[in-house]
Amino acid sequence: MGTASDQSSSTPRPPGPAQLAASGVFARALAVAARLGLAELTATQARTSAELAAQTRTDPEMLALLLHTLAMAGVFEIDGEGRFRLGEAYQALHGDHPQSQRHVCILMAETYDDAFAGLLDTVRSGRSGFRAAFGTSLYEYLAAHPEAEAIFDEAMAELARPVARALAARPGFAAAATAIDIGGGSGAFLRGLLDAHPHLRGICLDRPSVCARAAQRAGGAGDARLEFRAADVFDEIPAGGDLYLVKNVLYDWSFDSGLKLLAAARAAMAQTAAAEPGRASPRLLIVEPLFERESDAPRALFQKVICEDGTRGLDEAQLRRLVEAARLRVLGVERLDSGHTVLECAP
Ligand SMILES: C[S@@+](CC[C@H](N)C(=O)[O-])C[C@H]1O[C@@H](n2cnc3c(N)ncnc32)[C@H](O)[C@@H]1O
Repeated sequence: MGTASDQSSSTPRPPGPAQLAASGVFARALAVAARLGLAELTATQARTSAELAAQTRTDPEMLALLLHTLAMAGVFEIDGEGRFRLGEAYQALHGDHPQSQRHVCILMAETYDDAFAGLLDTVRSGRSGFRAAFGTSLYEYLAAHPEAEAIFDEAMAELARPVARALAARPGFAAAATAIDIGGGSGAFLRGLLDAHPHLRGICLDRPSVCARAAQRAGGAGDARLEFRAADVFDEIPAGGDLYLVKNVLYDWSFDSGLKLLAAARAAMAQTAAAEPGRASPRLLIVEPLFERESDAPRALFQKVICEDGTRGLDEAQLRRLVEAARLRVLGVERLDSGHTVLECAP
């Protein structure tokens, strides 16, 4: 058993109230660094703040303040000659890093942070803080703000890539010809699966503005097998898939909205099976991060603020209730290395 003095030397001191309240400074500074491309400029070569100011066309004095602020959090390391280099723990700020979080940082520290202006309203009423702050829902806001929407889509893609790798390694793809991703964003999740399974074709369903942007940017290897189709996934989901996918979508919505989406997926699957009686019955893979521990509280609070009224993080029992209410059978449950839970379902 350790003594009190042992404890004080090994346990990090929690920040004091003023320090914690000021943490938004670092979040916003990080987003500005991401927007200016400072990680890309300092990843392999240490540079002075004057050089960086010239390269980013920013005010030298202000940029020096920004760099020193971020150096306090370890984002940049400062060498003996006062030059800045990207810190080891922040390599993922680089846009080309294999696990890049560049757009996630911008989204979190800008649009989402702005929505947290509605937190007091959420805590008082349980309603969406996003709506309190912006007067509209997240997706209506994004549809009206294409630059913010492009950042959102890229952020989702950054978060989806490692999950696609983890799911692609799972058996069950060999027998499938067509995968349909419901609310699949800019297609990064499907792309990851198509790259790993060259026989597979994919249809990505999302809102019209997301599909139009993604289709315009497509053109990489494998994209010939990827189609973007604008759809309201609460209303109609096309038949013809062997595998239907729902990833990081259900936890964004209330029980009633989630039920609508799953009912539309079930109808599509039933229609597929009825059109070709000999065909193997389609499967739905629900890939969601579950909320099961007290330490999930910040993520659950986040969902309450950002998403529609009535949303909260789902635990496995709640997800199963939703699936059963949509008259889907759960065939299996497994946990991916990414931390997501996969529920395999059939009508
Ligand atoms: C949290 S994002 C997840 C994106 C993607 N599944 C992933 O995990 O990267 C939710 C997605 O649902 C889409 N979405 C929201 N409402 C929709 C609707 N009514 N019809 C189609 N897609 C919708 C959003 O545009 C967004 O791309």
